[in-house]
Amino acid sequence: MIAERMLVDASPTTLPPGPSVGPARQVAAWIFRPEALMERGRRERGDVFTLHLPLGPIVVVADPALVKDVFTGDPDVLRAGEGNRPLEPVVGPDSLLLLDGPRHLRRRRLVLPPFHGERLKTYENDMAALTLESLATWPRDRPFALEPHLRAITLAIIVRVVFGIEDDERAARMQALIPELVPDGGWSSLLLLPALRRDLGPRSPWRRFLAARAAVDALLHEEIAKHRADPNLAARTDILSLLLQARDEDGAPLTDEELRDELMTLLLAGHETTASALAWAFTLLVHARPDALERARDDDAYLDAVATETLRLEPPLPMAVRRGAEPVAVGGHDLPAGTRIAPCIYLIHRREDLYDAPRAFRPERFLDGKAETYAWLPFGGGIRRCVGAAFAQLELRTVLRTVLDALDVRAPDAGGRPERTRRRAIVLAPDRGARVVVRTRSRSATATATTAATRPGAAPPPRAASAGS
Ligand code: HEM
Repeated sequence: MIAERMLVDASPTTLPPGPSVGPARQVAAWIFRPEALMERGRRERGDVFTLHLPLGPIVVVADPALVKDVFTGDPDVLRAGEGNRPLEPVVGPDSLLLLDGPRHLRRRRLVLPPFHGERLKTYENDMAALTLESLATWPRDRPFALEPHLRAITLAIIVRVVFGIEDDERAARMQALIPELVPDGGWSSLLLLPALRRDLGPRSPWRRFLAARAAVDALLHEEIAKHRADPNLAARTDILSLLLQARDEDGAPLTDEELRDELMTLLLAGHETTASALAWAFTLLVHARPDALERARDDDAYLDAVATETLRLEPPLPMAVRRGAEPVAVGGHDLPAGTRIAPCIYLIHRREDLYDAPRAFRPERFLDGKAETYAWLPFGGGIRRCVGAAFAQLELRTVLRTVLDALDVRAPDAGGRPERTRRRAIVLAPDRGARVVVRTRSRSATATATTAATRPGAAPPPRAASAGS
Protein backbone atom coordinates (compact mmCIF):
# COMPACT_ATOMS: atom_id res chain seq x y z
CA MET A 1 0.00 0.00 0.00
CA ILE A 2 2.77 2.41 0.98
CA ALA A 3 4.70 1.60 -2.21
CA GLU A 4 1.53 2.17 -4.20
CA ARG A 5 1.06 5.59 -2.59
CA MET A 6 4.62 6.59 -3.32
CA LEU A 7 4.04 5.91 -7.00
CA VAL A 8 1.32 8.55 -7.16
CA ASP A 9 3.48 11.39 -5.97
CA ALA A 10 2.06 14.91 -6.29
CA SER A 11 3.39 16.61 -9.38
CA PRO A 12 2.38 20.03 -10.70
CA THR A 13 0.96 18.58 -13.90
CA THR A 14 -1.77 16.61 -12.11
CA LEU A 15 -2.93 19.43 -9.88
CA PRO A 16 -5.68 22.01 -10.57
CA PRO A 17 -4.51 24.98 -12.68
CA GLY A 18 -3.16 28.09 -10.98
CA PRO A 19 -2.87 31.81 -11.77
CA SER A 20 -1.33 32.75 -15.11
CA VAL A 21 2.03 33.72 -13.61
CA GLY A 22 5.21 31.64 -13.91
CA PRO A 23 6.40 29.67 -10.84
CA ALA A 24 9.38 31.99 -10.16
CA ARG A 25 7.14 35.06 -10.14
CA GLN A 26 4.70 33.25 -7.87
CA VAL A 27 7.45 32.64 -5.34
CA ALA A 28 8.43 36.33 -5.43
CA ALA A 29 4.79 37.40 -5.17
CA TRP A 30 4.29 35.05 -2.20
CA ILE A 31 6.93 37.02 -0.30
CA PHE A 32 6.21 40.57 -1.47
CA ARG A 33 2.54 40.68 -2.57
CA PRO A 34 0.92 37.51 -1.16
CA GLU A 35 -2.60 38.93 -1.09
CA ALA A 36 -2.45 39.94 -4.76
CA LEU A 37 -1.32 36.42 -5.70
CA MET A 38 -4.15 34.74 -3.76
CA GLU A 39 -6.75 37.15 -5.18
CA ARG A 40 -5.47 36.57 -8.70
CA GLY A 41 -5.64 32.80 -8.27
CA ARG A 42 -9.28 32.96 -7.27
CA ARG A 43 -10.18 35.55 -9.92
CA GLU A 44 -8.66 33.45 -12.70
CA ARG A 45 -9.37 29.90 -11.47
CA GLY A 46 -12.19 29.94 -8.92
CA ASP A 47 -12.27 28.42 -5.46
CA VAL A 48 -9.71 25.64 -5.96
CA PHE A 49 -6.36 26.43 -7.58
CA THR A 50 -2.68 25.58 -7.31
CA LEU A 51 0.08 27.96 -6.23
CA HIS A 52 3.78 27.29 -6.72
CA LEU A 53 5.40 28.36 -3.46
CA PRO A 54 8.96 28.08 -2.12
CA LEU A 55 8.21 24.68 -0.58
CA GLY A 56 6.51 23.35 -3.73
CA PRO A 57 2.98 23.31 -5.13
CA ILE A 58 0.00 23.76 -2.83
CA VAL A 59 -3.70 23.45 -3.66
CA VAL A 60 -5.57 26.46 -2.28
CA VAL A 61 -9.22 26.01 -1.25
CA ALA A 62 -11.37 29.14 -0.87
CA ASP A 63 -14.91 27.74 -0.64
CA PRO A 64 -16.37 27.49 2.92
CA ALA A 65 -18.08 24.11 2.35
CA LEU A 66 -14.89 22.59 0.94
CA VAL A 67 -12.84 24.14 3.73
CA LYS A 68 -15.20 22.52 6.23
CA ASP A 69 -14.64 19.15 4.50
CA VAL A 70 -10.88 19.59 4.79
CA PHE A 71 -10.95 20.69 8.45
CA THR A 72 -13.35 17.95 9.52
CA GLY A 73 -11.93 15.23 7.24
CA ASP A 74 -10.12 12.13 8.51
CA PRO A 75 -6.99 13.46 10.27
CA ASP A 76 -5.13 10.26 9.37
CA VAL A 77 -5.57 11.18 5.71
CA LEU A 78 -5.38 14.98 5.91
CA ARG A 79 -2.32 15.42 8.06
CA ALA A 80 -1.30 18.78 9.48
CA GLY A 81 1.88 17.55 11.17
CA GLU A 82 3.40 16.54 7.84
CA GLY A 83 2.41 19.90 6.36
CA ASN A 84 4.25 21.67 9.21
CA ARG A 85 7.46 19.64 8.84
CA PRO A 86 9.51 22.66 7.60
CA LEU A 87 9.17 24.21 11.08
CA GLU A 88 11.06 21.34 12.70
CA PRO A 89 14.45 23.12 13.08
CA VAL A 90 12.79 25.67 15.38
CA VAL A 91 10.09 23.69 17.19
CA GLY A 92 11.83 20.30 17.38
CA PRO A 93 10.59 16.84 16.39
CA ASP A 94 8.32 16.43 19.46
CA SER A 95 6.25 19.57 18.78
CA LEU A 96 2.46 19.42 18.79
CA LEU A 97 2.60 21.17 15.42
CA LEU A 98 4.49 18.26 13.88
CA LEU A 99 2.58 15.34 15.35
CA ASP A 100 -0.27 13.48 13.68
CA GLY A 101 -2.75 10.77 14.65
CA PRO A 102 -3.02 9.42 18.24
CA ARG A 103 0.25 11.07 19.35
CA HIS A 104 -1.15 14.46 18.31
CA LEU A 105 -4.42 13.90 20.18
CA ARG A 106 -2.63 12.74 23.32
CA ARG A 107 -0.35 15.78 23.27
CA ARG A 108 -3.19 18.19 22.52
CA ARG A 109 -5.09 16.93 25.55
CA LEU A 110 -2.04 17.78 27.68
CA VAL A 111 -1.37 21.19 26.16
CA LEU A 112 -4.92 22.55 25.84
CA PRO A 113 -6.16 22.89 29.48
CA PRO A 114 -3.84 25.75 30.55
CA PHE A 115 -5.25 27.83 27.68
CA HIS A 116 -8.86 27.63 28.77
CA GLY A 117 -11.38 28.92 31.22
CA GLU A 118 -11.02 31.26 34.15
CA ARG A 119 -7.33 30.51 34.42
CA LEU A 120 -6.68 32.74 31.43
CA LYS A 121 -7.90 35.79 33.32
CA THR A 122 -4.92 35.49 35.65
CA TYR A 123 -2.66 36.46 32.74
CA GLU A 124 -4.44 39.72 31.98
CA ASN A 125 -2.55 41.76 34.53
CA ASP A 126 0.86 40.56 33.35
CA MET A 127 -0.16 41.40 29.79
CA ALA A 128 -1.20 44.94 30.77
CA ALA A 129 1.90 45.54 32.89
CA LEU A 130 4.29 44.39 30.15
CA THR A 131 2.47 46.63 27.64
CA LEU A 132 2.83 49.64 29.93
CA GLU A 133 6.51 48.93 30.42
CA SER A 134 7.01 48.93 26.66
CA LEU A 135 4.90 51.95 25.76
CA ALA A 136 6.77 54.10 28.28
CA THR A 137 9.76 53.83 25.90
CA TRP A 138 7.97 54.69 22.63
CA PRO A 139 8.83 58.00 20.98
CA ARG A 140 6.24 60.77 21.29
CA ASP A 141 5.01 63.18 18.61
CA ARG A 142 7.01 61.75 15.72
CA PRO A 143 6.32 58.87 13.30
CA PHE A 144 7.73 55.46 14.18
CA ALA A 145 7.05 51.81 13.31
CA LEU A 146 4.92 50.25 16.01
CA GLU A 147 5.29 46.64 14.92
CA PRO A 148 8.74 45.94 16.43
CA HIS A 149 7.46 47.24 19.77
CA LEU A 150 4.35 45.08 19.56
CA ARG A 151 6.54 42.08 18.75
CA ALA A 152 8.65 42.85 21.82
CA ILE A 153 5.48 42.95 23.93
CA THR A 154 4.11 39.64 22.64
CA LEU A 155 7.54 38.07 23.13
CA ALA A 156 7.79 39.41 26.69
CA ILE A 157 4.31 37.98 27.37
CA ILE A 158 5.38 34.52 26.17
CA VAL A 159 8.61 34.67 28.18
CA ARG A 160 6.83 35.66 31.41
CA VAL A 161 3.45 33.98 31.13
CA VAL A 162 4.22 30.85 29.11
CA PHE A 163 7.87 30.12 30.02
CA GLY A 164 7.33 31.48 33.54
CA ILE A 165 10.70 33.29 33.57
CA GLU A 166 10.43 35.78 36.42
CA ASP A 167 14.01 36.87 36.80
CA ASP A 168 14.48 40.13 34.83
CA GLU A 169 18.01 39.33 33.70
CA ARG A 170 17.09 35.83 32.42
CA ALA A 171 13.96 37.18 30.73
CA ALA A 172 16.04 39.86 29.01
CA ARG A 173 18.55 37.25 27.80
CA MET A 174 15.78 35.12 26.35
CA GLN A 175 14.13 38.13 24.72
CA ALA A 176 17.42 39.10 23.09
CA LEU A 177 18.04 35.59 21.72
CA ILE A 178 14.67 34.88 20.13
CA PRO A 179 14.93 37.47 17.32
CA GLU A 180 18.12 35.67 16.21
CA LEU A 181 16.19 32.47 15.94
CA VAL A 182 13.25 33.96 14.06
CA PRO A 183 14.94 37.01 12.54
CA ASP A 184 13.54 39.99 10.73
CA GLY A 185 13.01 40.13 7.01
CA GLY A 186 12.41 37.58 4.30
CA TRP A 187 15.41 35.31 4.66
CA SER A 188 14.15 33.70 7.83
CA SER A 189 11.29 32.13 5.91
CA LEU A 190 13.86 30.91 3.39
CA LEU A 191 15.67 29.09 6.21
CA LEU A 192 12.64 26.86 6.28
CA LEU A 193 13.88 25.45 2.96
CA PRO A 194 15.93 22.30 3.65
CA ALA A 195 18.34 23.18 0.81
CA LEU A 196 19.41 26.38 2.61
CA ARG A 197 20.23 24.63 5.86
CA ARG A 198 23.95 24.54 5.12
CA ASP A 199 26.87 25.56 7.23
CA LEU A 200 28.76 28.01 5.01
CA GLY A 201 31.02 29.46 7.69
CA PRO A 202 30.73 31.28 11.00
CA ARG A 203 28.64 34.19 9.65
CA SER A 204 26.33 32.09 7.51
CA PRO A 205 22.62 32.26 8.42
CA TRP A 206 22.43 28.55 9.21
CA ARG A 207 25.46 28.64 11.59
CA ARG A 208 23.99 31.70 13.36
CA PHE A 209 20.65 29.99 13.62
CA LEU A 210 22.21 26.88 15.19
CA ALA A 211 24.14 28.98 17.71
CA ALA A 212 21.02 30.93 18.73
CA ARG A 213 19.03 27.71 19.03
CA ALA A 214 21.66 26.12 21.29
CA ALA A 215 21.63 29.18 23.56
CA VAL A 216 17.81 29.24 23.72
CA ASP A 217 17.69 25.50 24.43
CA ALA A 218 20.17 25.84 27.28
CA LEU A 219 18.06 28.59 28.86
CA LEU A 220 14.85 26.60 28.43
CA HIS A 221 16.33 23.46 29.98
CA GLU A 222 17.60 25.50 32.93
CA GLU A 223 14.15 26.97 33.36
CA ILE A 224 12.49 23.54 33.19
CA ALA A 225 14.89 22.24 35.86
CA LYS A 226 14.27 25.31 38.06
CA HIS A 227 10.52 24.88 37.79
CA ARG A 228 10.71 21.14 38.56
CA ALA A 229 12.72 21.86 41.69
CA ASP A 230 10.35 24.59 42.92
CA PRO A 231 8.52 23.39 46.06
CA ASN A 232 5.73 25.84 45.17
CA LEU A 233 5.20 24.40 41.69
CA ALA A 234 1.56 23.52 42.41
CA ALA A 235 0.77 27.15 43.26
CA ARG A 236 2.41 28.60 40.16
CA THR A 237 0.18 29.82 37.31
CA ASP A 238 2.59 30.11 34.37
CA ILE A 239 1.97 27.68 31.52
CA LEU A 240 5.27 25.80 31.92
CA SER A 241 4.29 24.99 35.52
CA LEU A 242 0.90 23.71 34.38
CA LEU A 243 2.50 21.61 31.63
CA LEU A 244 4.97 20.16 34.14
CA GLN A 245 2.06 18.93 36.25
CA ALA A 246 -0.04 17.61 33.34
CA ARG A 247 -0.47 13.82 33.07
CA ASP A 248 -1.92 11.77 30.23
CA GLU A 249 -4.48 8.99 30.70
CA ASP A 250 -1.71 6.57 31.71
CA GLY A 251 -0.39 9.03 34.27
CA ALA A 252 2.69 9.87 32.18
CA PRO A 253 4.13 13.41 32.28
CA LEU A 254 5.84 15.27 29.42
CA THR A 255 9.59 14.63 29.23
CA ASP A 256 12.06 17.52 29.31
CA GLU A 257 12.60 17.24 25.55
CA GLU A 258 8.85 17.29 24.91
CA LEU A 259 8.49 20.30 27.21
CA ARG A 260 11.28 22.12 25.39
CA ASP A 261 9.64 21.47 22.02
CA GLU A 262 6.22 22.56 23.30
CA LEU A 263 7.62 25.80 24.71
CA MET A 264 9.28 26.60 21.37
CA THR A 265 6.02 25.70 19.63
CA LEU A 266 4.03 28.10 21.78
CA LEU A 267 6.64 30.78 21.16
CA LEU A 268 6.68 30.32 17.40
CA ALA A 269 2.91 29.95 17.07
CA GLY A 270 1.98 32.67 19.54
CA HIS A 271 4.40 35.54 19.23
CA GLU A 272 4.56 36.91 15.68
CA THR A 273 0.94 35.98 14.96
CA THR A 274 -0.39 38.10 17.81
CA ALA A 275 2.05 40.94 17.08
CA SER A 276 0.89 41.01 13.47
CA ALA A 277 -2.78 41.12 14.51
CA LEU A 278 -2.03 44.01 16.87
CA ALA A 279 -0.06 45.86 14.19
CA TRP A 280 -2.97 45.49 11.79
CA ALA A 281 -5.49 46.62 14.39
CA PHE A 282 -3.62 49.92 14.94
CA THR A 283 -2.93 50.40 11.23
CA LEU A 284 -6.55 49.84 10.27
CA LEU A 285 -7.85 52.05 13.08
CA VAL A 286 -5.61 55.03 12.36
CA HIS A 287 -5.93 54.91 8.58
CA ALA A 288 -9.44 53.66 7.96
CA ARG A 289 -11.43 54.45 11.09
CA PRO A 290 -10.13 57.04 13.58
CA ASP A 291 -13.73 57.29 14.84
CA ALA A 292 -13.67 53.57 15.68
CA LEU A 293 -10.46 54.12 17.61
CA GLU A 294 -12.24 56.65 19.84
CA ARG A 295 -15.20 54.34 20.35
CA ALA A 296 -12.96 51.34 21.17
CA ARG A 297 -11.48 53.35 24.03
CA ASP A 298 -14.75 53.52 25.96
CA ASP A 299 -16.66 50.45 24.84
CA ASP A 300 -15.27 46.96 25.56
CA ALA A 301 -17.78 45.21 23.28
CA TYR A 302 -16.67 47.46 20.46
CA LEU A 303 -13.01 46.80 21.26
CA ASP A 304 -13.68 43.08 20.89
CA ALA A 305 -15.38 43.75 17.56
CA VAL A 306 -12.28 45.67 16.43
CA ALA A 307 -10.15 42.60 17.20
CA THR A 308 -12.56 40.23 15.44
CA GLU A 309 -12.78 42.44 12.35
CA THR A 310 -8.99 42.87 12.24
CA LEU A 311 -8.52 39.09 12.28
CA ARG A 312 -11.08 38.84 9.46
CA LEU A 313 -9.64 41.48 7.17
CA GLU A 314 -5.95 40.78 7.82
CA PRO A 315 -5.54 37.26 9.21
CA PRO A 316 -1.89 36.86 10.28
CA LEU A 317 -1.77 33.32 8.87
CA PRO A 318 -3.43 33.38 5.44
CA MET A 319 -3.72 29.59 5.16
CA ALA A 320 -3.77 26.41 7.20
CA VAL A 321 -1.98 23.46 5.61
CA ARG A 322 -2.77 19.74 5.41
CA ARG A 323 -0.95 17.02 3.46
CA GLY A 324 -2.95 14.20 1.91
CA ALA A 325 -1.55 10.82 3.02
CA GLU A 326 -3.76 9.22 0.36
CA PRO A 327 -5.37 10.49 -2.84
CA VAL A 328 -8.25 12.84 -1.96
CA ALA A 329 -10.97 14.57 -3.97
CA VAL A 330 -11.50 18.29 -3.32
CA GLY A 331 -14.13 20.25 -5.25
CA GLY A 332 -14.17 17.78 -8.13
CA HIS A 333 -10.38 17.58 -8.37
CA ASP A 334 -8.70 14.24 -7.69
CA LEU A 335 -5.54 15.11 -5.84
CA PRO A 336 -2.76 12.53 -5.66
CA ALA A 337 -1.27 11.33 -2.39
CA GLY A 338 1.30 13.77 -1.07
CA THR A 339 -0.59 16.89 -2.20
CA ARG A 340 -0.44 19.85 0.17
CA ILE A 341 -3.92 21.31 0.59
CA ALA A 342 -4.49 24.77 2.06
CA PRO A 343 -7.83 26.05 3.35
CA CYS A 344 -7.40 29.74 2.50
CA ILE A 345 -8.38 31.82 5.51
CA TYR A 346 -7.60 35.09 3.72
CA LEU A 347 -9.82 34.45 0.69
CA ILE A 348 -12.72 33.03 2.74
CA HIS A 349 -12.68 36.19 4.84
CA ARG A 350 -13.02 38.35 1.73
CA ARG A 351 -15.94 36.59 0.06
CA GLU A 352 -18.75 38.86 -1.05
CA ASP A 353 -21.35 36.17 -0.38
CA LEU A 354 -20.25 36.01 3.27
CA TYR A 355 -19.57 39.68 4.05
CA ASP A 356 -21.00 42.99 2.81
CA ALA A 357 -18.21 45.20 1.45
CA PRO A 358 -15.61 42.57 2.46
CA ARG A 359 -12.63 44.85 1.83
CA ALA A 360 -13.87 47.51 4.24
CA PHE A 361 -12.80 47.62 7.90
CA ARG A 362 -16.12 47.65 9.76
CA PRO A 363 -15.99 46.44 13.38
CA GLU A 364 -19.74 47.07 13.61
CA ARG A 365 -20.42 43.92 11.59
CA PHE A 366 -19.42 41.85 14.63
CA LEU A 367 -21.36 43.80 17.25
CA ASP A 368 -24.61 41.90 16.80
CA GLY A 369 -23.45 38.36 16.90
CA LYS A 370 -20.67 35.88 16.59
CA ALA A 371 -19.00 35.09 13.31
CA GLU A 372 -20.03 31.88 11.53
CA THR A 373 -17.52 29.06 12.10
CA TYR A 374 -16.58 28.51 8.46
CA ALA A 375 -16.82 32.17 7.50
CA TRP A 376 -14.38 33.40 10.18
CA LEU A 377 -11.38 31.15 10.70
CA PRO A 378 -8.29 33.12 11.66
CA PHE A 379 -7.43 30.30 14.06
CA GLY A 380 -7.93 27.45 11.58
CA GLY A 381 -10.27 24.60 12.39
CA GLY A 382 -11.07 21.02 13.31
CA ILE A 383 -8.84 19.12 15.71
CA ARG A 384 -5.91 21.36 14.79
CA ARG A 385 -7.63 24.65 15.66
CA CYS A 386 -5.27 27.08 17.34
CA VAL A 387 -4.57 26.09 20.95
CA GLY A 388 -3.92 29.71 21.88
CA ALA A 389 -7.04 31.28 20.31
CA ALA A 390 -8.61 32.43 23.61
CA PHE A 391 -5.19 33.50 24.95
CA ALA A 392 -4.54 35.51 21.78
CA GLN A 393 -7.94 37.21 21.93
CA LEU A 394 -7.39 38.16 25.57
CA GLU A 395 -3.98 39.50 24.62
CA LEU A 396 -5.34 41.54 21.71
CA ARG A 397 -8.01 43.08 23.92
CA THR A 398 -5.62 43.79 26.79
CA VAL A 399 -2.80 45.32 24.74
CA LEU A 400 -5.18 47.43 22.63
CA ARG A 401 -7.04 48.70 25.70
CA THR A 402 -3.84 49.47 27.62
CA VAL A 403 -2.34 51.43 24.71
CA LEU A 404 -5.55 53.32 23.96
CA ASP A 405 -5.98 54.18 27.66
CA ALA A 406 -2.49 55.65 27.85
CA LEU A 407 -1.92 57.18 24.43
CA ASP A 408 -3.50 59.10 21.60
CA VAL A 409 -2.60 57.23 18.42
CA ARG A 410 -2.87 58.67 14.92
CA ALA A 411 -1.68 58.09 11.34
CA PRO A 412 1.79 59.54 10.61
CA ASP A 413 0.58 61.80 7.80
CA ALA A 414 -2.99 62.72 6.97
CA GLY A 415 -3.98 61.13 3.66
CA GLY A 416 -0.89 58.88 3.52
CA ARG A 417 -1.37 55.50 1.88
CA PRO A 418 -2.63 52.69 4.10
CA GLU A 419 -0.09 49.90 4.53
CA ARG A 420 0.07 46.90 2.24
CA THR A 421 0.50 43.27 3.21
CA ARG A 422 4.03 41.89 3.41
CA ARG A 423 5.42 38.54 4.56
CA ARG A 424 7.40 38.55 7.78
CA ALA A 425 8.78 35.08 8.51
CA ILE A 426 5.63 32.94 8.85
CA VAL A 427 3.05 35.74 9.09
CA LEU A 428 1.62 38.53 6.97
CA ALA A 429 2.14 42.00 8.43
CA PRO A 430 1.82 45.68 7.41
CA ASP A 431 4.63 46.52 4.97
CA ARG A 432 5.88 49.67 6.72
CA GLY A 433 5.71 48.21 10.19
CA ALA A 434 2.48 49.95 11.26
CA ARG A 435 3.76 53.52 11.35
CA VAL A 436 1.95 55.82 13.77
CA VAL A 437 2.41 58.94 15.87
CA VAL A 438 1.55 58.74 19.58
CA ARG A 439 1.12 61.29 22.35
CA THR A 440 0.63 60.69 26.06
CA ARG A 441 -2.96 61.26 27.11
CA SER A 442 -3.67 63.57 30.01
CA ARG A 443 -3.81 60.68 32.50
CA SER A 444 -0.25 59.42 33.05
CA ALA A 445 0.81 55.88 32.25
CA THR A 446 1.37 55.32 35.97
CA ALA A 447 -2.25 56.15 36.70
CA THR A 448 -3.30 53.76 33.96
CA ALA A 449 -1.10 51.04 35.46
CA THR A 450 -2.91 51.43 38.73
CA THR A 451 -6.27 51.26 36.98
CA ALA A 452 -5.26 48.14 35.08
CA ALA A 453 -3.90 46.46 38.19
CA THR A 454 -7.06 47.14 40.19
CA ARG A 455 -9.52 46.15 37.46
CA PRO A 456 -12.07 43.67 38.89
CA GLY A 457 -10.94 40.08 38.53
CA ALA A 458 -7.34 41.07 37.90
CA ALA A 459 -4.52 39.05 39.41
CA PRO A 460 -1.75 40.66 41.48
CA PRO A 461 0.84 42.52 39.37
CA PRO A 462 3.63 40.27 38.06
CA ARG A 463 6.48 42.00 39.92
CA ALA A 464 4.66 41.64 43.23
CA ALA A 465 4.09 37.96 42.52
CA SER A 466 7.75 37.36 41.72
CA ALA A 467 9.24 39.55 44.43
CA GLY A 468 11.64 37.65 46.61
CA SER A 469 11.79 34.57 44.40
C1 HEM B 1 -3.74 36.28 16.63
C2 HEM B 1 -2.94 35.31 17.01
C3 HEM B 1 -2.96 33.91 16.45
C4 HEM B 1 -3.41 33.44 15.24
C5 HEM B 1 -4.01 34.26 14.10
C6 HEM B 1 -3.20 32.01 15.23
C7 HEM B 1 -3.56 31.18 14.18
C8 HEM B 1 -3.35 29.81 14.16
C9 HEM B 1 -3.66 28.94 13.04
C10 HEM B 1 -4.28 29.40 11.73
C11 HEM B 1 -3.28 27.69 13.38
C12 HEM B 1 -3.38 26.44 12.49
C13 HEM B 1 -4.72 25.79 12.66
C14 HEM B 1 -4.98 24.68 11.66
O1 HEM B 1 -4.02 24.11 11.12
O2 HEM B 1 -6.15 24.41 11.43
C15 HEM B 1 -2.74 27.75 14.72
C16 HEM B 1 -2.27 26.64 15.40
C17 HEM B 1 -1.69 26.72 16.64
N1 HEM B 1 -1.57 27.85 17.43
FE1 HEM B 1 -2.19 29.71 17.00
N2 HEM B 1 -2.63 31.64 16.42
C18 HEM B 1 -2.47 32.76 17.19
C19 HEM B 1 -1.95 32.81 18.47
C20 HEM B 1 -1.50 31.73 19.18
C21 HEM B 1 -1.01 31.78 20.54
C22 HEM B 1 -0.96 33.05 21.40
C23 HEM B 1 -0.60 30.52 20.86
C24 HEM B 1 -0.01 30.00 22.16
C25 HEM B 1 0.63 30.74 23.02
C26 HEM B 1 -0.86 29.66 19.71
C27 HEM B 1 -0.59 28.32 19.65
C28 HEM B 1 -0.92 27.49 18.59
C29 HEM B 1 -0.60 26.06 18.54
C30 HEM B 1 0.14 25.27 19.63
C31 HEM B 1 -1.10 25.57 17.33
C32 HEM B 1 -1.02 24.13 16.82
C33 HEM B 1 -2.30 23.35 17.13
C34 HEM B 1 -2.27 21.91 16.65
O3 HEM B 1 -1.55 21.61 15.70
O4 HEM B 1 -3.01 21.09 17.23
N3 HEM B 1 -1.41 30.45 18.71
N4 HEM B 1 -2.79 29.05 15.18
